[in-house]
Amino acid sequence: MAKISASVYTSHVPAIGAAIDLGKTEQEYWQPVFAGYDYSKEWIKENRPDVILLVYNDHANAFDSNFVPTFAIATGDEFKPADEGWGARPVPNVKGHSRLAAHIAQSVIQDEFDLTVVNTIDLDHGLTVPMSLMFGQPEEWPCLVIPIAVNVVLYPPPSGKRCYALGKALRRAVDSFDEDLNVQIWGTGGMSHQLQGPRAGLINREFDLDFLEQLIADPETLSQKPHIDYVRLAGSEGIELVMWLIARGAMNDEVVEKHRFYHVPASNTAVGHMILENS
Ligand code: DHB
Ligand code: FE
Repeated sequence: MAKISASVYTSHVPAIGAAIDLGKTEQEYWQPVFAGYDYSKEWIKENRPDVILLVYNDHANAFDSNFVPTFAIATGDEFKPADEGWGARPVPNVKGHSRLAAHIAQSVIQDEFDLTVVNTIDLDHGLTVPMSLMFGQPEEWPCLVIPIAVNVVLYPPPSGKRCYALGKALRRAVDSFDEDLNVQIWGTGGMSHQLQGPRAGLINREFDLDFLEQLIADPETLSQKPHIDYVRLAGSEGIELVMWLIARGAMNDEVVEKHRFYHVPASNTAVGHMILENS
């Protein structure tokens, strides 16, 4: 049977992708950011997933304001990196797992989460930057990926509670897939940041560190946090953190913390990263 063995959480700052692509990772500004992923690159070699359910958000690249699904699953076989205005990132195409994705769509929709099913989608920094942070710069990505897109760009975003419950439905879907697969679920985006308006540049270290702590120890209570608290305390883009609750919801209540990292700044964002395993 398929099984979720671990979850990875990470920010997806686009400038991190540019630093990798332009060979700047050893620069003084960037070195401490990438150092936080040294352990993770080794860990993922030892704990190679067959498939990643990669929960991310599109930033008006694939979905524009004409259609914005709250939750979408990509069921295609292969996805290209998106051109976000300066050409597509020089990273491999992402290969999907159509059969598992179709099973998840069926299971989760019958389980009362009405995912939008997407066949073709180009993937922006929300998905490709976490891949680069964890796997570096390989010729081909070493595993299959099912993109799960969440709207955190156009108001109203889904609640943390809904995201956490979706994680539980994804877990039931994976548990009922009849093929031996080592599955990871990743929650991406965050941590505190605001890109526009008078509060642009906002970072809230205390909020972020509490979030990491509570995500491990008491995700149920954390999932009750209203969206307005994210916006007020963690900035308008801090709402991306609800995606971490989807990944956490798919895990056991009790988890083993393998890695935790927090660093400010990277571009306009506080970078947070964690690896949790099911015991
Ligand atoms: C930045 C962070 C993001 O999450 C994003 O989507 C775009 C930009 C930034 O810090 O610059
Ligand atoms: Fe973002």
